[in-house]
Amino acid sequence: MPKLGTTNSSAMPSLHNGHVVGQAPGKVILTGEHAVVYGYPAVALPLFNLRAQATFVSASPGYGTVIAALDLLQHARLTDPSPLLKPLVLAAKTAIAEMGLENEPNCILQVRSQIPVARGLGSGAAVVCALVRAMSKAAKRPLDLNAQNRIVLKSEKLLHVRPSGIDNLTIVHGQPLFFRKGQQPVFFHARQCPVFLLADTGVSVPTSKAVARVAELRMRNPRQAEGWFEEIGEISKAMFEALKQSKPAELGPLLNSNQELLRRLGVSSVANEKLIQAALMAGSPAAKVTGAGLGGQILAIAHKEDCRAMDEALRAAGATEVRQVQWQAPAPACKD
Ligand code: PMV
Repeated sequence: MPKLGTTNSSAMPSLHNGHVVGQAPGKVILTGEHAVVYGYPAVALPLFNLRAQATFVSASPGYGTVIAALDLLQHARLTDPSPLLKPLVLAAKTAIAEMGLENEPNCILQVRSQIPVARGLGSGAAVVCALVRAMSKAAKRPLDLNAQNRIVLKSEKLLHVRPSGIDNLTIVHGQPLFFRKGQQPVFFHARQCPVFLLADTGVSVPTSKAVARVAELRMRNPRQAEGWFEEIGEISKAMFEALKQSKPAELGPLLNSNQELLRRLGVSSVANEKLIQAALMAGSPAAKVTGAGLGGQILAIAHKEDCRAMDEALRAAGATEVRQVQWQAPAPACKD
């Protein structure tokens, strides 16, 4: 199982070959998904062992810009975007404008990602971020983190109804984040973060569908929904304090309480519950949905001695992939 924060990039074939490369990490939400859309706090970590990478390969004059999404076997010109690559095309155009380039560069932008698509791990934001970084490095026109964040958020808006902004900030800044919409993001150091297992249900549901489901519930019963969001917000505040103050024993009860509230919000599906119960039965002190839910990933705390048993139990319960992750700061090369 790959570990978060490792600097070994052997899992992804190197695309350097003298070309300009941009990278960005995936992300995982520890607490606060869905409530964060309505202005309550959430906590997220970047995942540096799951990365997106874009390689800028120069082309002859007059060639223009072609984006080649190698995993999807799709390509697009900036003038003629394939629907699947719309967010990347929008990001490339916005980056060109932000960098003040007169013409689109003559290049092929090859994009690859280790982050599974539509599984709550920030794949969309990460590929866009990697692309923007490769373009700005190649043009020697640095875009600061705020500019990168603006571009990534703009293309996130093509995919999600109303993205809270947590994915783009975590991925662009590459640091643990305490986030509340409309407020200054708080990046912090998370010491003594436990090992987690991320288990994939194999079910991919668009974030917009899960967000719409919660919006419906809130329409039907606004007081109850706001009460649950508020409880989730308090959990995120406590999670932030526990991580900052290195109190790992406090994390488990917070994650379990958050999961109970996600159940009430209706985003923990049968597939999620199967994996959560399997993790708990195999010794995990806490497990929850991470990201939008209705499938996607679950996150479970894993004591070292239980990792193997948990991995086996999760796979037996239907997990299509199990990854071991633990937050640690990345090597500088992984951040840009
Ligand atoms: O895209 P996902 O699966 O990581 O979900 C993001 C979390 C939500 O709170 C459900 C949506 C959002 O915009 O914050």
